[in-house]
Amino acid sequence: QTGYTALDYGFVNTASTKSEITYIDGEAGILRYRGYPIDQLADNASFLEVAWLLIYGELPTADELAGFDEKIRRHTLLHEDLKNFFSALPSSAHPMSVLSSATAALSTYYEDGSDPANPEHVETNIIRLLAKLPVIAAYAHKKSIGQAFLYPDNSLSYVENFLRLNFGNMAEPYEINPVMVRALERLLILHEDHEQNASTSTVRLVASTGADQFASISAGIHALSGPLHGGANEAVLKMLGDIRDSGEGVHRFVERVKNKEAGVKLMGFGHRVYKNYDPRAKIVKQSADEVLAALGVNDPLLDIAKELEEIALADEYFQSRNLYPNVDFYTGVIYKAMGFPERVFTVLFAIGRLPGWLAQWREQNLDGQGRIGRPQQLFLGQPERQYPAK
Ligand code: SDX
Repeated sequence: QTGYTALDYGFVNTASTKSEITYIDGEAGILRYRGYPIDQLADNASFLEVAWLLIYGELPTADELAGFDEKIRRHTLLHEDLKNFFSALPSSAHPMSVLSSATAALSTYYEDGSDPANPEHVETNIIRLLAKLPVIAAYAHKKSIGQAFLYPDNSLSYVENFLRLNFGNMAEPYEINPVMVRALERLLILHEDHEQNASTSTVRLVASTGADQFASISAGIHALSGPLHGGANEAVLKMLGDIRDSGEGVHRFVERVKNKEAGVKLMGFGHRVYKNYDPRAKIVKQSADEVLAALGVNDPLLDIAKELEEIALADEYFQSRNLYPNVDFYTGVIYKAMGFPERVFTVLFAIGRLPGWLAQWREQNLDGQGRIGRPQQLFLGQPERQYPAK
């Protein structure tokens, strides 16, 4: 302990990132994309419509949306050589590792077209990443289950295509399930942006060095993979399954959390900003019942999740720490009901977050506002001292 305090160093608040994209009020549990409340967008808009809103600032006209959709459909194919990339990785590779490394590898095909200072390159790479990342994500899933990759079908919508690439196979035609399409579209919209969370801050910091969109997005995927961030949706399902399999019951698990046994946390609870119910979690919880019923799935893990929430929200330990369900608490139960393996859940978070990352990357580079980022440090180490004379 050096006896110095922050004030001795004249500590000032780190300059905040300035943005016009997303507004969060953590106390009131408010989330708006470019001013539109998240529930209105989740209920009424399409994923690409919200992507355009985040990136360009206004809802697209019908022509703008049609043009955006058409351009993306025309860019879904990966270079054939890139498909060989996947065979170099072990089938045990975590799909998030596959996604982040394949995204970096994707950049090698466009190095002459990725100048961050060239607006044409920036716009083309927004299309390329939106078009190709869902294909790479589906290939990461297929690789993890040893199934052949499908080619995209450009006659399908963005989410239909993504579902077919994940669940279709070479042996039979894939039947689109409108319930799954609408449910996944809503979930992806809920994930599209969330102001300066850890992975988006990573994307902006990498962007501030002059690195291209591929490098920044790949870095964002790595940041998202951590269990305290996007990896939480996978960790929640493991936690619910452990409670079910242990037979110890929910109350006993909550006691272990409160005793902070070996770092046991209530995954899917708590948030750096929301000190109230995460508005996204509310929407996901509502649709969980609808989607599981519509898919004819009865999953005891959903009941365990609801019991956990009920006990935690009534308990002083969680109340005093403002711990509420966040976006990750219920999403995994729905993804599981759709048929996604748990290790793919965070990949779905990344596909949802991609438009926000692209919007924030673009804002970081608008009009050369991109001064290189350098988070401030509060030095608490040793004052000057002399090397001992020999
Ligand atoms: C996402 O930032 C974003 O916007 C992220 C995100 C997005 O859209 O990008 O919203 C997505 O990452 C959601 C969060 C997903 N992560 C989890 O669900 C993992 C579990 N949650 C925690 O690890 C934690 O709540 C964080 C990381 C989310 C937030 O951490 P904070 O705000 O730094 O809170 P903290 O660690 O300082 O905890 C304050 C207190 C501590 O207790 P005390 O030391 O005061 O006794 O609350 C406790 C913590 O131990 N606590 C928990 C807890 N979260 C905090 N105790 C049990 N279970 C938890 N989940």
